[in-house]
Amino acid sequence: MDIHKPRYTPMSRRRRIYEGKAKVLYEGPEPGTLIQHFKDDATAFNAKKHEVIEGKGVLNNRISEYVFQHLNDIGVPTHFIRRLNMREQLIREVEIIPLEVVVRNVAAGSLSQRLGIEEGTQLPRSIIEFYYKNDQLGDPMVSEEHITAFGWASPQEIDDVMSLAIRVNDFLSGLFLGVGIRLVDFKMECGRLWENDLMRIVVADEISPDSCRLWDIKSNEKLDKDRFRRDLGGLLEAYTEVAKRLGIIVEGERPTGTGPVLVKS
Ligand code: TMP
Repeated sequence: MDIHKPRYTPMSRRRRIYEGKAKVLYEGPEPGTLIQHFKDDATAFNAKKHEVIEGKGVLNNRISEYVFQHLNDIGVPTHFIRRLNMREQLIREVEIIPLEVVVRNVAAGSLSQRLGIEEGTQLPRSIIEFYYKNDQLGDPMVSEEHITAFGWASPQEIDDVMSLAIRVNDFLSGLFLGVGIRLVDFKMECGRLWENDLMRIVVADEISPDSCRLWDIKSNEKLDKDRFRRDLGGLLEAYTEVAKRLGIIVEGERPTGTGPVLVKS
């Protein structure tokens, strides 16, 4: 074997499949695979607010890898195959269902605003909401009626998405509770994975402090993207704290790619 042969095509020669606000998808090394690249861009309010926060993509790549690998390990199907490098992971190509699935355990953000419930109020039970993924419309909230009437997903698919959402919520709540963090809410996306003639719904996209609300249990300090949305500062420090508590990066390690980094395999 030629040891100088790159394991995958250098970035410049790769075919770009899709560019989102925080990630780019490239063609993968084999049919049915893609490479998911995490950028440093932070956006909020449908990209009206935008900043580049150097190192955010590296942290999200690692944190999302950790979550998705554990989901795979406990039998929650995801698109994740493996991390490739500091900013990229190999994933299965799926047909994204155009919904943002939000699970809430504690009132915050748009729920607090819409219903006048004070942020931090424990909800009587976990609540699942759907938003139609459409930037031009600002991702409006939709009901199951809209989803089935417009054919974005079938009733059976909605059931599958909801049971995945509950399993992910239970897993994430326990995971974060174990490291002194309250999972207030999170957003996930699902995709259709085709295997021969069989299709199943899997968890896709990313799960990271960009897409969760994570509060320190003792101090209620925000360890998520609300630091950016609400101009609190210290986003990188907060994401690093999450990664450290999960044991993803160790004390003294610089995860942001600005210096030599110990990559745990
Ligand atoms: P919300 O309270 O603003 O509706 O947000 C609910 C959760 O969804 C929160 O954890 C942040 C996450 N989220 C995203 O990941 N992307 C988005 O575009 C929005 C609006 C929220």
